[in-house]
Formats: sequence, C-alpha cells, structure tokens
Amino acid sequence: MTDYGADLLWVLILASLGLSALAVFFSISRQRRSHPPAVVHPAGEDVAAEAARKVIREFEKNGQSVDAALVTWSPETLRKILADDLPDAQVIVVSNREPYIHNLRDNGVELLVPASGLVSALEPITRACAGTWIAYGGGTADRLMVDKDDRVQVPPGNPSYTLRRVWLTEEEHQGYYLGFANEGLWPLCHIAFTRPIFRESDWEAYEAVNRKFADTVVAEARNERPIVLVQDYHFALLPRMIRERLPEAIVITFWHIPWPNSEVYSICPWRERILEGLLGSSIIGFHTQFHANNFTESVDRFLESRIERADAAISYGGQTTLVHAYPISIEWPADLLARLPDVDDCRARLRTRFGLKADVKLGVGVERLDYTKGILDRFQALDELFKRYPEWIGKLVFLQIAAPSRGTLPAYKLLHDECHRYAEELNERYGSDGYKPVIMVAEHHTQEQVYEIYRAADICMVTSLHDGMNLVAKEFVAARDDEQGVLMLSTFAGASRELLEALIVNPYDAAMMSEALLQALTMTPDEQRERMRPMRQMVRDNNVYRWAGSMLLDAARLRKRGDVDRATGTGDRQPPSVDNVVSMFERKRLAMS
Ligand code: F6P
Repeated sequence: MTDYGADLLWVLILASLGLSALAVFFSISRQRRSHPPAVVHPAGEDVAAEAARKVIREFEKNGQSVDAALVTWSPETLRKILADDLPDAQVIVVSNREPYIHNLRDNGVELLVPASGLVSALEPITRACAGTWIAYGGGTADRLMVDKDDRVQVPPGNPSYTLRRVWLTEEEHQGYYLGFANEGLWPLCHIAFTRPIFRESDWEAYEAVNRKFADTVVAEARNERPIVLVQDYHFALLPRMIRERLPEAIVITFWHIPWPNSEVYSICPWRERILEGLLGSSIIGFHTQFHANNFTESVDRFLESRIERADAAISYGGQTTLVHAYPISIEWPADLLARLPDVDDCRARLRTRFGLKADVKLGVGVERLDYTKGILDRFQALDELFKRYPEWIGKLVFLQIAAPSRGTLPAYKLLHDECHRYAEELNERYGSDGYKPVIMVAEHHTQEQVYEIYRAADICMVTSLHDGMNLVAKEFVAARDDEQGVLMLSTFAGASRELLEALIVNPYDAAMMSEALLQALTMTPDEQRERMRPMRQMVRDNNVYRWAGSMLLDAARLRKRGDVDRATGTGDRQPPSVDNVVSMFERKRLAMS
C-alpha cells in the first residue's frame, strides 16, 4: 500500500471510531435527558447505564474531568494533600456558626450541634486537618467551657481540633448577624421575594465584626502562611482584611448561598465594598458554575478589574482571585449510619412515636424554619393532592421537622405563624379521628434523629425556592442504604444539578408538585432502587472530602506559583497561566500513592 493509501486508511479508521464514539455519546445523552425507566434492567445493562451516567455527569460537572471519579476521597486523602502539597500549613476555618454550642440547662451544660449545612460539611474536614475553627461563641455556657485563650478542644470526648470562640456584644450580634447578614444579604442572594433591608448601622456592625474576626485569625496564625477557609456571607469583608495583615496567607472563601444576577445585586448600597472584600481571597468558591458566573458578572459591572474568563480569574488591585464552582457535599460513609438501627427498625420506631398506622405512607421535610425552604409551598402541594386525589386522604402523613432559626426577625416570626396556621388548616380540612395529615415539629433534632427520620420515610421533600446546594437532599440519599425512598427535589436547589434521578419539581407550581407527589406515592420499589442507586453513587464519589480536597489542591498550586513569583521577583501581575482545574492525573496520583 502507498503512503497515501495508508494515511487514508488511518483517517477512515479514526473517523469511524470518532463517529461511533459520538453516536454512543449522543445516545447516552438522550437516555439521560429522559427520566430513568421504571423497569429494572438485567444486571449487566444496569451497571453499564450507571457507568455511562457517571461519565456524562463528569463531563457536565463544573469543569471537572472524568478521572476525578476514580479517586476515593477520604480524610486520609486530605491529610496526604496537606502533607505532600502544603507541608506545615496550618488550616484555619472561620464561620459565624460554631460546630459545637454549649448551653446552660437546669441539669447542667447541654451540648448542641446546630442545624447547619455548613457545619455538617466543615466538621469532618476540620477534624481531618486537625485545624483551628474560629466562630462566634453564641451558647449560654460557651464561656464556661473555654480555656484562658477562649479555646476548647473538640469534638468532646474525642478531641481532634481547636475551637476558638469569638465573643460579640448584643449590639454587634444584632447588627452584623441578624441585621446585615440575615435581613440584608440573605434575602438579597436568595431570590425568594422577601425584600432585603439595608441599614447603615448594621453595615457598621458588620464591618466591625469582620475586623474582630480578622484580629482573631492573625492571633491564631502560627506563621505568615496559614490556609484560611472563610465561610459564607457573614464574612464578605474578612478576606481582604486578612490579606492586608497576612499577605502570604492562602485565603479560600466559600459562599454557601446563591449569588444573584448583577441587576439584583446592584440594589445593595455597599456592593463595591463587598466585592472588594471578597477579592482579597485567593480562591472564591460557589456551589454551582451559575453562581460563580453571576459573581464574575457583578465584578465586571461594578469594579475596574481584569477578568480572564478562560482562566476563571479576576485581577483586582494587583491581586488575582480564582472564581470556581466546588459543589459541597457530605461525609461518606456517614459515621453515624453505623450507629443507627436498620431501616425496618427506624420505620417502626418513628411510626410508634407519631402513632402512624402501618399502611400509611410517610413524607418528610427536614430543615431550619426558613422562608427560602418552600415549606408553605409543599403544604400547598399536599392540599392540591388531597383535592385531586381524595383517595389519599387517610393514607399519607407529612412530617415537617423545622428547627427554630433566626426567630427574632419579623420575616421568620411571620413564617412560623403561617406554617403552623396552614398545617392546622390542612388537619382540620382533611383530618379525622386519630388522623392528622400534617405533623409539624418545630424543634431541634440531633443528626442521629434526623437520619432515623430519613430512614423511616417513603418520600423526602426538598422544595427550596432557592438554595445554594441543600445538603438534606444528599443526606437523605446517604441514609438510604436499602436503596428505597423517593426524593422530590426543587430545580432551584444546587443539588438538582447532581441528583438527576430525583423527581425534580418547581416549588412555585403546586399542581405540578401534587402530580410529582402522586408519582412518588405510587412508585414501585424497583423504580425507587433504579433512581436511588445512581444518586448514592454520585454522593459517594463526590463526598465532602473531594469538595475540600479540590480547593486545597488548587490552593497548593497557587502557593507554588506565588513562591516562584516571589523567588523570581515577578509578583502577581498575571492570572495563573495554568488551567484552573488541578490536573486530575495529579489528583489521582496523590490519592493512590
Ligand atoms: O447552609 C447555609 C447557611 O446559611 C449556613 O451558612 C448557616 O450556617 C446555616 O445556613 C444556618 O443558619 P444560621 O447559622 O443562621 O442558623
């Protein structure tokens, strides 16, 4: 054969391989877009479909590559990253909410783990890194439990890191936390149609408290180069304050809530100051690429900066910040699952606790009592279901666990009253002797109690009007090692980008939600398994260690780059020239070696 002939043959072979790959890709994409079939496939097909879904997800996932799924992410992986790539780095976490709250009770001091997605995600990470966690000491017995430097070793009974408590005055807490953070930024960032309130005095308190935390970070830093993980909308000004005092620190800021589009954002009177503060970070993380893009658009609109979209980097005031999506997750395997009884026992215990008949289906909702969670909207869906399908009256009970939250704010008081009123109304309308369709428990529950509820439920409703991620959805999936239970998930929660096999709903559409409820109520065990299995795989592969590990690896890369710049005197004039996502090959090598 001539050289030309051989070349042509190769071209044809490669083209046909390419076309076959494309055909497989498109056929998988088509399968994925339609709902998973209600029937179980033979085992081989089942495994292949799962593998394909995983590959597609990896392609779709916020710039992360296929290989990442091959890494098993664990506390050990994190420790390895720290030891190999960030030797001697001290990890400091900063958040408003502390992971352990000590409260005075009649019979002594009670320990409370707050209902917070942030806490459940960061706690295992801080344990793994043996770091220092700086947070507001809000418990009534918090001062009794600390040493002379305001530190306490946690978790109690098995200490592995230091909790450093920061004290706030009543006025500071009112202005910074209740005022600016929760009446201003919270409604601003969640498009839930609650009007944000901005007061100058709240802003002043917010700034002062951010400075107080900056002082504490500097005091806790053992050297000039800590890795500081700043959490959430309570600390928009803190990254720049840390940068000014510890220029060599790596500051990774994670914004746990959505970031609105620039038009909505523009109503904040201190919009430029907030952006400037955040751009003191080395990295800013969001749950979804969509929120990362919104942030970049806001910077583009309100600050003189250079935006390198291809690198997802923003240069402002001589410093570069990477803006990435890192979808947060939960601990996997969840430690507490080992301590829980099996699913049948959990069902039996819960049914006894609430006096439910054996043939009654149980739907659950678990969250803080917050207007972003769509609690009233799911009650409306129940109402609609009973109107359309009265045969379900008497056969479905909905248990709403609503942890008290921010209860002194008018918007939360109003929601509390409305939820109770609507629950009572439904019970009057559809209830009868011994049957109440809605049980509302507005009390704090421990993680173990919450997992018991997940395991006992037939349906879990997550109907947020807007949510950064929503870890309840992931926890429900993690709790169901029996591969049963149906997850209804709002399309406006970040989790809906990952948990594709959930019944995805629009919480504003009560009719649609009632039909989804019917679908959930009548779903066969086979279909439940068919949906639950890939969701469990997704949460397992993308656990919270991967979330933190990805950020730490990116931080390590920045540190190396900064060290080279300092050594060569080039400074921070250019955005990092590297691709933003750390090479997955490198991640795999680290995890496996
Ligand atoms: O997960 C989102 C979040 O806003 C966290 O930032 C916060 O810790 C949690 O909800 C609970 O809110 P709070 O700390 O105000 O009780």
